[in-house]
Amino acid sequence: MTHTSYHKPVLRDEAIQFLVTNSHGTYVDGTLGGGGHAVHLLGKLSEKGRLFAMDQDEEAIAHATERFTDEPRIKIIRGNFGYLDVLLPRELHGKLAGILLDLGVSSHQIDEPERGFSFQKEGPLDMRMGSLQVTTAAGIVNEYEYETLRDLLFEYGEERQSSRIARAIIEARPLQTTTELRDVVASVVPERFRNKSLARIFQALRIAVNSELGMLKRVLEKGHALLCDQGRFVVITYHSLEDRLCKNFFRYGNFEGKPVKDFYGNEVRPMRPLNKKVISASVDEITNNPRARSAKLRAAEKLSERASSDRGDRVDEDENRRNNLGGWS
Ligand SMILES: C[S@@+](CC[C@H](N)C(=O)[O-])C[C@H]1O[C@@H](n2cnc3c(N)ncnc32)[C@H](O)[C@@H]1O
Repeated sequence: MTHTSYHKPVLRDEAIQFLVTNSHGTYVDGTLGGGGHAVHLLGKLSEKGRLFAMDQDEEAIAHATERFTDEPRIKIIRGNFGYLDVLLPRELHGKLAGILLDLGVSSHQIDEPERGFSFQKEGPLDMRMGSLQVTTAAGIVNEYEYETLRDLLFEYGEERQSSRIARAIIEARPLQTTTELRDVVASVVPERFRNKSLARIFQALRIAVNSELGMLKRVLEKGHALLCDQGRFVVITYHSLEDRLCKNFFRYGNFEGKPVKDFYGNEVRPMRPLNKKVISASVDEITNNPRARSAKLRAAEKLSERASSDRGDRVDEDENRRNNLGGWS
């Protein structure tokens, strides 16, 4: 398999341009996938630069291990980025120059029917990104109570027909395959809305199976603590729930989007967003790669403690330069 048939990286140049400010720094790619962003990132690093690259999917790890056999600057780690604070070697803590997250699933995962991510192909209702996870989509559709299932479809899929669909799923139990679930949804949703509803229902189940929002919140908080001053977060999201969490965290340091004030009434901001307007893919990129259609990129820079309650526009350059010399061990 070629690297681009595994997955075409989305907003690649934009992401790496925001991310890399120090070619000798230590970086994390939390969503290695086919390694498309990682290759480009490594291309911007010096011999001293380092990359910790994670994925929870063993197929991605196997593919990337082969792709990067001759690359001494990368260390590939299998695991959930939500736990990057425990997956990274202890000695590195607080020394990261940047963290990249390209959320969601890879084209390879969607294209493999046995992973169960696509309603267009028959496969088991699995949807786990990594085989270490216990919950599967079949577990959710067959075991959750009506209210829990309905709320999950509504909250994670933003599906307005969630009550009807949840009821139909419960009546059709047990469901084992993606096409069985597709047929149940099709039985209660008019044809002209069907594909959009199916996409929302599959998205909701995938988010729940993989605890995607919980893991995103965790990586933002833990990752922020690991960045050096002026270290950067770059996140590419594919739906509004993820985008909102990033937007609020980058602006306010919390997920609710509430301004926080210190004792003197100054706003405390742990990060400074680098792009006021969200960045989307160009028409050309979308034509070449339709998956880029829903991508949104946000980047932010960590503020030093002093700068964070000082309107965030002054940072100690020398301290940043010193901290940015991320080590490798
Ligand atoms: C959109 S793809 C990344 C593609 C990659 N940037 C490239 O250029 O090939 C997302 C990848 O992140 C992985 N992933 C998603 N959530 C994860 C998490 N919480 N922890 C670790 N890996 C995750 C998926 O398994 C998938 O391989």
